[in-house]
Amino acid sequence: MKSQSILNAERNGATDELVKIAVAEGNGIGPEIMDATLKILDAAGAKFSPQFIQVGEEAYRQGHTSGLSEEAWDTISKCKLILKGPITTPQGKGYKSLNVTIRKSLSLFANVRPVNALHPFVPTKFPGMDVVVIRENEEDLYAGIEHRQTDEVVQCLKLITRPGCERIIRYAFEYAKVYGRKKVTCMLKDNIMKLTDGLFHQVFDEIAKEYPQIESDSQIIDIGAARLAARPNDYDVIVTSNLYGDIISDIVAEIAGSVGMAGSANVGMNAAMFEAIHGSAPDIAGKNMANPSGLINAAVMMLGHIGQTETADKIKNAWLATIEAGLHTPDIYKEGMSKRKVSTSEFAEEVISRLGKTPEKLPLSNLVSGQGHINLPEYKRKEATKTLVGVDVFLDWKGASPQDLGRELTALKSYKLKLKMITNRGVKVYPDGNKETFCTDHWRCRFVAEDFDPHQGYPSIDFEQVVALLSKLNANNYDVIKTENLYEFDGVKGFSLGQGE
Ligand code: NAI
Repeated sequence: MKSQSILNAERNGATDELVKIAVAEGNGIGPEIMDATLKILDAAGAKFSPQFIQVGEEAYRQGHTSGLSEEAWDTISKCKLILKGPITTPQGKGYKSLNVTIRKSLSLFANVRPVNALHPFVPTKFPGMDVVVIRENEEDLYAGIEHRQTDEVVQCLKLITRPGCERIIRYAFEYAKVYGRKKVTCMLKDNIMKLTDGLFHQVFDEIAKEYPQIESDSQIIDIGAARLAARPNDYDVIVTSNLYGDIISDIVAEIAGSVGMAGSANVGMNAAMFEAIHGSAPDIAGKNMANPSGLINAAVMMLGHIGQTETADKIKNAWLATIEAGLHTPDIYKEGMSKRKVSTSEFAEEVISRLGKTPEKLPLSNLVSGQGHINLPEYKRKEATKTLVGVDVFLDWKGASPQDLGRELTALKSYKLKLKMITNRGVKVYPDGNKETFCTDHWRCRFVAEDFDPHQGYPSIDFEQVVALLSKLNANNYDVIKTENLYEFDGVKGFSLGQGE
């Protein structure tokens, strides 16, 4: 597996000067496309030393439920850079996703997916599109904090943090700066989720000001995704949170016609992993017909990341020239457009023979002007004055009328707290609810200080009052399923109003 110059470098003891990269061939077509990619990296003079690790199927078979042996993990922890082939996910329960394990353990907060059209060699309706989607990778609804609370209701917590927003947004602007991009567009739904997506938007506006040379723009995700699908050439770098990014990064790859050709990076402050976006393609494994382009592009991103931009450009331009020459693997081969159908290994040889050449029609890769590595400043926490002003108590209550519940809770005298409102699925149903509102068995009951006056703002309360209220509710046989404290931060409300409140 080790290529000749790497073996030579190791024999000469020169590998200390090379960047150590943990290399996982992966499963299915993984070994074939990794072999092709490493040969190209080697021929282009990439300065790195691969540290081969076994991950995926074999590790799962040996009983490692995360798909990683301790030895492999040890190598990853030392190298902190991984070039990874696709992994076959085993069927059945009890297996953890290898990608999620690596991403979470190394805190790889940014998923970066550059996609550009290769028209007319790979057909797309959008010649010239060239978009990079930068997706937050660790937070949002993907934190996986879910609960069933009543017969009828389950919930999933959406967590958005300031350090998380600052890191990903700054990374997007730094990426734009380093790689000579002109515009960063933020996509969110902060017209509805005013606190969570609102924070992301606020941080975007703050950080955008630090990069006056880069155009910035925010769009609501629904119309943004629709426009992106209809006019991708209007976009450059897009930064967004986890769920939206998951969806739009696939839209972008699909409309460029290049799902099988795109690479992606998962980047953290101290570690990064590079891979193709496609899977292990078991249907064509071992047939020497897989397209290695996705992994080649991932390796180009890796070289950019470690500052070997000149080599990255050399490989990318040779790859573009090979695509242009019509030398295509079967997945993209088209009679009339392609010149010759080539195998995985022939494709690699054709790329190698074009190292130093540039494409004539497709846009030239020119990362050299960039500085490659992106450095982010340490996050500094700013503490605000936090004041408790109320509590939302969630009840599992099987009664039919919100008026009954409202009257009962209003009558329940408790330690200088009063019921302000009740909502069901976020809609106010007491006081002055609408008879038409459908109600389930999950009621959010908001209590605030007894002397709350809407014209004066929220008086502060003590947590003991909340504890006493919960005891009283429990003593009166209410099924309390959870509470959320209501806080003000430096006098600014840290909670949303109920719809109709
Ligand atoms: P897939 O991407 O492996 O294959 C979908 C189709 O595209 C197949 O017809 C395949 O032959 C073709 N294809 C994929 N890559 C190709 C390439 N480089 N050259 C030519 N044709 C290619 O997706 P599928 O079949 O859904 O998943 C197969 C396995 O891969 C599953 O176990 C899945 O969990 C895993 N997977 C792993 C990923 C990773 O490690 N990052 C990502 C996606 C899937």
